[in-house]
Amino acid sequence: MSTVRFENINKFYGDNQILDNINLTVNEGEFLVLVGPSGCGKSTTLRMVAGLEDPTTGNILIDDKNVNDVEPSKRDVAMVFQNYALYPHMNVFENMAFGLKIRKLNSFDIQKRVKEAAEILQITDLLERRPKELSGGQRQRVALGRCIVRDPKVFLFDEPLSNLDAKLRAEMRVEIKKLHQILKTTMIYVTHDQTEAMTMGDRIAVMNRGVIEQLDSPMAIYKNPVNHFVAGFIGMPQMNFFSGMITRSGGDASVFKSGKLEFPFPNSNKGVIEQSIILGVRPEDIEIIKKNQPNESSFNAKVELIEPLGSIFLIYLNAFGIKFTCSSILNDELVAGMNVSVRINLSKAHVFNTDQKSISLN
Ligand SMILES: Nc1ncnc2c1ncn2[C@@H]1O[C@H](COP(=O)(O)OP(=O)(O)O)[C@@H](O)[C@H]1O
Ligand SMILES: [Mg+2]
Repeated sequence: MSTVRFENINKFYGDNQILDNINLTVNEGEFLVLVGPSGCGKSTTLRMVAGLEDPTTGNILIDDKNVNDVEPSKRDVAMVFQNYALYPHMNVFENMAFGLKIRKLNSFDIQKRVKEAAEILQITDLLERRPKELSGGQRQRVALGRCIVRDPKVFLFDEPLSNLDAKLRAEMRVEIKKLHQILKTTMIYVTHDQTEAMTMGDRIAVMNRGVIEQLDSPMAIYKNPVNHFVAGFIGMPQMNFFSGMITRSGGDASVFKSGKLEFPFPNSNKGVIEQSIILGVRPEDIEIIKKNQPNESSFNAKVELIEPLGSIFLIYLNAFGIKFTCSSILNDELVAGMNVSVRINLSKAHVFNTDQKSISLN
């Protein structure tokens, strides 16, 4: 098991800064996910570990050894891409064995390693087939197999599931996690898909415009996003945002106002009162109730649309022109067009200041 460290990594293409002071240590045996929107610098970061990109400044260390000047082939890392590029004229066995032949392993060891990897991936019965005789998921397994047989220090994945349909993607997500549990090898996994990040990562690094915005466990990020960007990026359906202000309404009472929408918002934090803020509320922290209760953070809204997802319903609501979503398990009486009362669970609400940073409500 190995560690990977990114130390003060900056990357420029001409005058364009692509990565801005990336510092990150991937622990031994960890499954670390780099997630962020397209173009934020995930692949560039990952490819530096493989030696396919050089940092403009900064260091890449594997097991505390600076590998900046180490050839890609000598780094002992294996990479799986979205486009798995199997050799079409070779069968599965030959595809998996190819890298080992180049490394001049003897045929006994090659047989043994390919057989073991094939068993882990449950493709033993496919070893004689050519890639064109395989499904997308099977091909991706062969691509994984090609890496496993090399027994590398680190696995690198660059959006390996993006080409697969939704069902297969969900299956392969589980397969790769199981693989990690068996092999316990350090893995760095790049994706733009927050669901993959949440479900697969021991820790997630959320990237945006060449910067790591937050690094933590999936649930820590979900519960305590450090800023507006992370709050909006992690979580499906997305967090609702209400731009407005918390103002005093006499005595200790205060209200949140966003345009014509207004509801009680008990809070005494001076840093939050009378300032422009964005209130962030996850859909599961909004509840449809029978009737507005005095002194509760409730208000009237209109149901615009209901999406049944099976176990839950997504309810699209509109209050004074402000649109937001609530997720709920109970909805039998609800129909589109209905006026309802809505309550926000303020203990779970997030407040972001004009710099987009999360500020505490206490
Ligand atoms: N060889 C290159 N020359 C110039 N710009 C590049 C090159 N490779 C990547 N970029 C730019 O760097 C940014 C980050 O790219 P990339 O790391 O591939 O993003 P991601 O994987 O997050 O989608 C993008 O704006 C991309 O256009
Ligand atoms: Mg990429």
